Amino acid sequence: MGRFAIPAACIRLGLCLLMAFVAAAASAQTAPSPALEAAGAHGAPDVDPLAEEGRRLLARHGCTGCHSLDGAAGPGPTFADRWGGLAVVRVGAESRPVPYDRAYLARAVAAPDAELAEGWSAGIMPPYDLDGATLDAMAAALAAAATAAPDPPPTGWDGLIAGLVIFVLGHFVLSAGPLRRPLVNRLGERGFQLAYSLVAAFGMYQLIVGLDATPYVELWPPLPWTQQVPLAVMPVAVSLWVFGFSTPSPTAAGQSARVSEPPKGIIAITRHPALWGFVLWGLAHLPPNGDLATVAFFGGFVVLALGGMWHIDRRRAARLGADWTAFAEQTSVVPFVALLRGRARLRFGRGDLVRLVVSLVVFVGILHTHHLLFGVPALR
Ligand code: HEC
Repeated sequence: MGRFAIPAACIRLGLCLLMAFVAAAASAQTAPSPALEAAGAHGAPDVDPLAEEGRRLLARHGCTGCHSLDGAAGPGPTFADRWGGLAVVRVGAESRPVPYDRAYLARAVAAPDAELAEGWSAGIMPPYDLDGATLDAMAAALAAAATAAPDPPPTGWDGLIAGLVIFVLGHFVLSAGPLRRPLVNRLGERGFQLAYSLVAAFGMYQLIVGLDATPYVELWPPLPWTQQVPLAVMPVAVSLWVFGFSTPSPTAAGQSARVSEPPKGIIAITRHPALWGFVLWGLAHLPPNGDLATVAFFGGFVVLALGGMWHIDRRRAARLGADWTAFAEQTSVVPFVALLRGRARLRFGRGDLVRLVVSLVVFVGILHTHHLLFGVPALR
């Protein structure tokens, strides 16, 4: 009883994830990426099943995360209109032209830096070990990208900015501004939480759709080692989400009455576990995503989560007074500070073991569905 709170925050997270699914599914339907759509959907209808399969494989292996099929700029040279022509490559100090064909594709994939595409840096493209059938399909997709004459996909910042505005304003204006009280009076606390969740989820949806349409502006290149950072950090972030959203705490939405209870489980480590989960998630995704839009997306969440901690504390302090001060004294915002200072006591129970197992399952689940949800594989 009461060991697992299913607070509104859970519903909100669920809705956000649902909207992320919908956004991902929607963009996968209309365009696996703007680049893929352009290559397949413009000009003569492309019915070559091998090229179709090749485009799918290029997306699955993360190639189209760096190489566009429509001529758009990216971290690697575009595949558009290159097939059957000549590629200029640098081998040692010497530049030479080589036919851009199936053999070149195979060499480029197996040892990207042995023949370096002229004008591009070494160390960005990871080597792949792909079988002949995969290379055949990819070659067909590259050949099709050479014959398609696509309009460049519409790109712009409006969608991403609109998403950021809806998401951030939705959080801060609805929860604190003079809007909250009249809305709670009209909709009731539960109705308000639902409306709040819907606005947040719509903001999330708009953010993901908007991100897809932004032009590529590189701040730093996607070096292969940077992909290890999320792999190392995300188990911790996912655990913080699972523990945070399921541990009763006065810092969670609609639970301020719990302020007189001693802090449970994870709350002794930090009173904002779920928000720290978002901070770690955002920070961990920055190294491998050095383009302006993605940096704004993940960086925005980091700022929002840190701001959220401060904001929730301020509101609780104003509303709960001395009770809050007593609770805050036994906890800390920065993880482990209250424990190290001897103000907090760890009280983990059996429920926390369940949470740990759930965290692991969720992490492994995300690891294996990441490419379906977000178009970029978490694992190669
Ligand atoms: C992290 C970004 C990245 C990923 C992922 C990536 N590449 Fe590359 N690729 C590059 C860069 C940068 C270059 C240019 C430097 C070089 O030749 O190594 C390149 C070069 C190439 C070239 C030579 C292009 C030319 O214009 O001469 C081919 C072909 C190629 N990649 C195919 C692939 C395929 C197929 C995949 C997926 C299996 C893939 N790449 C994945 C970044 C990437």
